[in-house]
Amino acid sequence: MNVFEAISKRYSCRSYLDKPIEKEKLARIFEAARLAPSAKNLQDWRFVVVTDKDKRTQVAHAAYDQMFLAQAGAIVVACSNSDYVMRCGQPINAIDVAIALEHIALQAVEEGLATCWIGSFEPDKLRQILGIPQNIAIIELMGLGYPADKQRTPIREPLTSIVCYNQWQF
Ligand SMILES: Cc1cc2nc3c(=O)[nH]c(=O)nc-3n(C[C@H](O)[C@H](O)[C@H](O)COP(=O)(O)O)c2cc1C
Repeated sequence: MNVFEAISKRYSCRSYLDKPIEKEKLARIFEAARLAPSAKNLQDWRFVVVTDKDKRTQVAHAAYDQMFLAQAGAIVVACSNSDYVMRCGQPINAIDVAIALEHIALQAVEEGLATCWIGSFEPDKLRQILGIPQNIAIIELMGLGYPADKQRTPIREPLTSIVCYNQWQF
């Protein structure tokens, strides 16, 4: 599968088979995250991979009862231990973690798995469930597992609405 195929096949999966993910697949998926770029190569991401069924259910409740997450073989809790701000004024934590997460999402496609980004969750509840310290930012969750649904046609703006050349033309 080439990169564009993986990009085209990725979709937000909200129905999973309750099936464990093979260790080798998880290893390749997190190797893809490890190879992601990061500001100053700080590699400030940390991933808590929740595979335990009972904990998955608790995490799904902490994600405002998005219970489809409990069915996924794993829930990736993507964290950052950095408070570094780039000279452009942007903090790196969410940017770096997001790049690594999308590497995860694309490698998951290659492995026959599906994902769903999850930004709707209660960080303090997750801290309690998973023992994540206060100084660590919980950036995003990602459901990861064998899909029980099919990709829908993506709804996207046309290129002309999002790209211009040489001059701001929007
Ligand atoms: C940062 C971010 C947060 C998101 N949070 C949620 C979420 O909490 N629950 C959910 O079901 N989908 C969530 N999504 C998925 C988006 O709704 C989805 O990516 C968008 O509708 C486009 O659909 P597609 O991913 O299938 O192409 C999130 C996506 C992103 C990128």
